Amino acid sequence: MRLVVTGGAGFIGSNFVRYMLGRHDDVEIVNLDKLTYAGNLENLRDVEDDPRYTFVRGDICDAALVGETLRGADAVVNFAAETHVDRSISGPQDFISTDVLGTHTLLEAVRQLEIPRYLQISTDEVYGSIDEGAFTEESDLDPSSPYSASKAGADLLVLAYHRTFGTPVLITRSSNNYGPYQYPEKIVPLFITNAIDDRHLPVYGDGLNVRDWLYVEDNCAGIDLVLREGVPGEVYNIGGGNEVQNLTITHRILELLGKGDELIRYVADRPGHDRRYALDCSKLRALGWRPDVPFDAGLTRTVQWYVENPEWWRPIKSGEWRSYYARQYGELA
Ligand code: NAD
Ligand code: DAU
Repeated sequence: MRLVVTGGAGFIGSNFVRYMLGRHDDVEIVNLDKLTYAGNLENLRDVEDDPRYTFVRGDICDAALVGETLRGADAVVNFAAETHVDRSISGPQDFISTDVLGTHTLLEAVRQLEIPRYLQISTDEVYGSIDEGAFTEESDLDPSSPYSASKAGADLLVLAYHRTFGTPVLITRSSNNYGPYQYPEKIVPLFITNAIDDRHLPVYGDGLNVRDWLYVEDNCAGIDLVLREGVPGEVYNIGGGNEVQNLTITHRILELLGKGDELIRYVADRPGHDRRYALDCSKLRALGWRPDVPFDAGLTRTVQWYVENPEWWRPIKSGEWRSYYARQYGELA
């Protein structure tokens, strides 16, 4: 299988590239990535010499490059996106460009080149917030942030291409991922690396918002299964089944690192902050998928990874990250 992965130098994409090369001898992967602040070739250092792997630097909005890169592919998996909710609030433009227009550029190439399979990596955030129960794939889209609205726009385009042109598309919508190689702007790697350095952990609002945590390899396994066995035109939720309040995660990270609660700082809430996410994953479970990594084991493993790999995250936290952190967190920076 000749697979084009976009955004493969980011967090989930790089874990997926490693996962696929490790499990399927017959897979060849081309990774098309723009290398924004979130893209990092260090994430794939251990596989860069694998003859089945090729890296192409470029933008998914570049139609000529996309056409050239996708020609002859058996499948495309689109991870490329602007992904951080807070950045979408302070500057939505790149989210609309990459997440909506970039997805459209890929869809056009897939249609024209008659690529047999296109998998869009989406998010549970397109459904918005839910107080009780869980979203199914049939739930209405009700996004809250410019990020999730851009992802929802992309999902609608993907499904419209199926309905209008018969393009063989699939969508996965996963809950919050955590694990190695996550850029330290998202809560788990930010709080782990801040705590290691005895910096404050900025908790938004009352800290009682709930996310459903999914270990990144479990997401990779779900994506692999949908890619191989999913029905074109269908959407598949991928959730970890681990609903945890932000404060609980915060306390557990501090505990795992032997640090005290005095590092916690309550800061102004995120505008439009979704209270709770929860997914019904019975559709994917019916294909045989189960999350494998319990939350506490996954979090322990993740904390351990950041403790053991400061050479990965310290250079990040001394670059673009610093100015972002100062803008976002003001006096805490
Ligand atoms: P990330 O921010 O870590 O990485 C994004 C990658 O996309 C980077 O390598 C970046 O360089 C690349 N990229 C950005 N714009 C590009 C462009 N115009 N052209 C080519 N490459 C570009 O993201 P992530 O957390 O790994 O998320 C990957 C996908 O999964 C995204 O589509 C995101 O919406 C979705 N998702 C993420 C989570 C999560 O918890 N992280 C959960 C559900 C869904
Ligand atoms: O649900 C899937 C989504 O999960 C993905 O689509 C997004 O790409 C990904 O960024 C993530 O979005 P969240 O907004 O849920 O993740 P984040 O890590 O930014 O925030 C998780 C929770 O932690 C949220 O309730 C806000 C809170 N938070 C976050 C940060 C960065 C804090 O309290 N303090 C912080 O400094």
